[in-house]
Amino acid sequence: MLQTFLRDQPENNDPAKRQWWKEAVVYQVYPRSFMDSNGDGIGDLKGIISRLDYLKDLGVDVLWLSPVYPSPNADNGYDVSNYRAIADEFGTMDDFDELLAGVHRRGMKLLMDLVVNHTSDQHPWFLQSRSSKDNPYRDYYIWRPGKNGQEPNNWQSYFSCSAWEYDDMTDEYYLHLFTRHQPDLNWENPKVRDEIYDMMTWWLDKGIDGFRMDVINGLAKAPGLPDAPSHGQRRYVWGGEFFLNVPRVHDYLQEMHRRVLSKYDIMTVGETGFVTTEHAKLYAGEDRNELSMVFQFEHMGLDGGEDKWDCKPWSLLELKKVMSQWQNDLYGVAWNSLYLTNHDQPRALSRFGDDRNYPVESAKMLATFLHLQQGTPFIYQGEEIGMTNMIFDNLVDYRDVEIFNLWRDRAETGETDLGRLMHAISLKARDNARTPMQWDDSAHAGFTRGVPWIKVNPNYPQVNVQRSLTDDNSVWHYYRKLIALRKKHPIMVYGKYDLILADHPEIYAYTRTLGSEVWLVVCNFFANTPVFELPIDLLYGATDLPEDPPELIISNYPEDASQSLSQGHFTLRPYECRVYRLTSGRGARLGLAN
Ligand code: GLC
Ligand code: CA
Repeated sequence: MLQTFLRDQPENNDPAKRQWWKEAVVYQVYPRSFMDSNGDGIGDLKGIISRLDYLKDLGVDVLWLSPVYPSPNADNGYDVSNYRAIADEFGTMDDFDELLAGVHRRGMKLLMDLVVNHTSDQHPWFLQSRSSKDNPYRDYYIWRPGKNGQEPNNWQSYFSCSAWEYDDMTDEYYLHLFTRHQPDLNWENPKVRDEIYDMMTWWLDKGIDGFRMDVINGLAKAPGLPDAPSHGQRRYVWGGEFFLNVPRVHDYLQEMHRRVLSKYDIMTVGETGFVTTEHAKLYAGEDRNELSMVFQFEHMGLDGGEDKWDCKPWSLLELKKVMSQWQNDLYGVAWNSLYLTNHDQPRALSRFGDDRNYPVESAKMLATFLHLQQGTPFIYQGEEIGMTNMIFDNLVDYRDVEIFNLWRDRAETGETDLGRLMHAISLKARDNARTPMQWDDSAHAGFTRGVPWIKVNPNYPQVNVQRSLTDDNSVWHYYRKLIALRKKHPIMVYGKYDLILADHPEIYAYTRTLGSEVWLVVCNFFANTPVFELPIDLLYGATDLPEDPPELIISNYPEDASQSLSQGHFTLRPYECRVYRLTSGRGARLGLAN
């Protein structure tokens, strides 16, 4: 079969399709928690500047900054009150310019977070908009009269409760898909679009290298804002089908591309919850003139039920299915983003690995599993040193509005199993991944001289950058090696992905193929020790192993000669991963190249 893959694959590394952002590795900085330079307990731009050499040394190419704009922080900066300035707590525009120059001087690039589905309710546009029905800014937002003394429709916001807020100033409701302090912009209004495009142009002219676009698939709302079909008792219902992936969103993105994005050599990644590969081909298709790539969430949903708090164990077979579908469906037609965690998700090591018994092994295995797939890998700050979920003892230690709203919605409205809710929160809270970066074993992990805005994970004496740098076997050094490998081997970027052993319950294995080169990736997702059998006939179209032994490219364990692949099988140690090159310019001899 692999022989057929080889013959049939379109040349995906065709120079026309080569792009710097496909070959790059992105590092997400959550500024509030990265590095505090002035002791106020809040990370800031000067703090990031002081760590640029660290990031360069790791080898990443692109930094994505979560929002640093002025914000009342109802949702940690995702409620922007001024799109063209820097929040005081993060620094000044001069600091920003210095940061950008420092990034560029080191040969790296910078992406800004673009949050334009909504603004803060303190944004001057909204203050104007709410002031009267005939204010010129009224139509910048989505206002509706109530219906029978209630909200205009039954939509539930992302963060519990209704998606509508009543404003007595004009006796109408405004729409907010997130908190009530984040009113949704009315993208139907061409003036809104002009304002946003001007603002994007302003940042791009400053020299930034692209945008990560917050909930960008939510810009268009279904005409008429219809009620969501409701089953059961709930007064407010999730109405995603009416505000996510509504076809009109593509008109906006194509217009944005025509008027702004197409004029620069930049990278864009859209945050698009609830997308399928069919949607993604529309947002990120090579010929669509919309975005470079999107963040999908199907793999993040595997341990949830009706909502994410409805926790269940994820299954490897499902993970294989989801990941493989994204790899296969987008191959040659659109580009994948690859991530396992970010500021909205728990730590991947605690979620998909074993942060107690095999923290180092499983962190490296997860990195391998992800970085060897086709797409642009994203590393979330701290992932490269194996940071884990935070165990907060008390609800009051959380800082995230999502948790407070959830608690109000559930605990105060009749949820009986509070233990279960607390457990779900401990697994899924966004604050899990928002605790300060662990730099060293000094007080507060070296993040701040003051009192950090959110507690530091108490495991910082063991898990920190300083320690990682001095230990050759650390997760950090492994990431660095993986990133360097990607720079050397185009197959890691452009090779075609093919899942093998699809039904194996413990091993996730796949090949990458580029021209006559074939790599084999084998990952053990558990603490058990399964035997991996090389599917010789599948890979080589023969019954015997070829003479040239497969070459081990990288692994998270020391090499064990008695367990090499030249026997055609080996026993995997807990969370072991191995990457082999099966052929290299030797394809002809193996019968692969023709
Ligand atoms: C995105 C952000 C998240 C924020 C939300 C509203 O999902 O990643 O942090 O709460 O949008 O802006
Ligand atoms: Ca600070």
